[in-house]
Amino acid sequence: MISLTGKDPARLSVDALVVATAERNGAPQLLGADWLPEQLRAALSSDARALGITGATGEVRRVPATGLSARVLVLTGTGTAAPDAEALRRAAGAATRELAGVGSVALALPADDVARVAAVAEGALLGAYTFTRYRGTATAASAASPVAEIQVVTGLAKDKAAAAALDRAQVLAAAVHAARDLVNMPPNELYPAALADAARTAGREVKGVKVTVLDEKALAAGGFGGILGVGQGSVRPPRLVKVTYAPSRARGHVALVGKGITFDSGGLSIKTAEGMVGMKSDMAGAAAVLHTVLAAARLGLPVAVTGWLAVAENMPSGTAQRPSDVLTMRGGTTVEVLNTDAEGRLVMADALVAAVEEKPDVVLDIATLTGAQVVALGDRVSAVMGSDEVRGEVVAAADRSGEPFWPMPLPVELRAGLKSQVADLSNIGERFGGMLTAGIFLREFVGSTPWAHLDVAGPAFNSREPHGYTPLGGTGAGIRTLLALIEARAGR
Ligand code: BES
Ligand code: MN
Ligand code: ZN
Repeated sequence: MISLTGKDPARLSVDALVVATAERNGAPQLLGADWLPEQLRAALSSDARALGITGATGEVRRVPATGLSARVLVLTGTGTAAPDAEALRRAAGAATRELAGVGSVALALPADDVARVAAVAEGALLGAYTFTRYRGTATAASAASPVAEIQVVTGLAKDKAAAAALDRAQVLAAAVHAARDLVNMPPNELYPAALADAARTAGREVKGVKVTVLDEKALAAGGFGGILGVGQGSVRPPRLVKVTYAPSRARGHVALVGKGITFDSGGLSIKTAEGMVGMKSDMAGAAAVLHTVLAAARLGLPVAVTGWLAVAENMPSGTAQRPSDVLTMRGGTTVEVLNTDAEGRLVMADALVAAVEEKPDVVLDIATLTGAQVVALGDRVSAVMGSDEVRGEVVAAADRSGEPFWPMPLPVELRAGLKSQVADLSNIGERFGGMLTAGIFLREFVGSTPWAHLDVAGPAFNSREPHGYTPLGGTGAGIRTLLALIEARAGR
């Protein structure tokens, strides 16, 4: 639950009241908290060092709420005295994340315009997330539940646009949370048919959304050789899930394609034990696509959005595809599989072909596609490739949403590496620039449809430290960017 309030923060009866701090000349500065009792301000300023308060980004400190109606005062660092929207999101999210286990929280961060209200609400909601589905009662009790009641303090509590921003923040956060849940699900439980069922169930709850699932028979009938080839090593057959949102007054049609490898062992080109850790998250692109379409529908955006989830489990076995197998993809292109661990591009190729058959205005694909993405940009910054125009559109949407996406090229020279001795294409190319080669491979399947490819291999899954509004595990990377892009096309 989240709401706006215009009340005096000092008089809010909440478990925790959050204010922002910034760093100035080595000392912390309270941001827009002139309503704090003078005594408390003085104590905070004289004891800042002893309390460990510097105002640095990511810093969250709890102090007694002397003279306030709240039980505890929480200081969340923004780093700078003029935080941008993303700095506010992160500070709000760090606070709610650290406050897991606390019932009610009010955030009195600088939120004097609609964009800032939106940022604080988004950050607070995104940070209020935990995944406890697989904990027993004993360990669930020790895992604090996310903050349930959030109030955003603002002078715009009665403002219509601020209320709309709050609604949007809730839809957005629900989408990100749901995608994180899917990514965090263990791969023994979230196998291809289970992911398809999850999509069906989630789709049923949203008006105007239709979900259709192609099973292995339908995939064979449809000539989806890439999805079938990757999936044939698993006892749990692959799926292609289509999620349709087609409002009557649509201003255009956006197609989204997501990689849905429920577990990537590498197949016969098997990964190392270390390399396999985290590979349950190899369906993060599909999760992002599913919940972006649902969010667009929930917001009633006047743009048609079709999501395609290319779902398979990549396993080694007696039925697995071999290095040297040749697959015939949807549309007839043949691919020699020289490394079964380069499976993402195989399932994506089929789904991209299916997506462009419907002649959408633009197709965007999102995938945890390459380790090379992580080498190039780490686990905080995603990559985007494609036509200059659509790539630029993605970067602009990413900038507005606060998600870091960096433009990457598709150098023509790398195309030669994808030549095969026996087929139209090989599924691997030169060793260096692996992220770009994967992008060039995908481009072969989009024809003339305007297209961009988002590689979120690093950012989709956080295996290091929680930070800002980002928890450990699934992050929901890409949803905010994709939704911002669709909103722009909807004229919002
Ligand atoms: N799912 C992996 C990419 C990945 C790696 C995602 C690390 C997240 C973290 C993908 O299927 C893969 O294995 N790619 C190979 C391709 C190579 C064989 C050409 C890679 O990047 O090593
Ligand atoms: Mn792989
Ligand atoms: Zn993979």
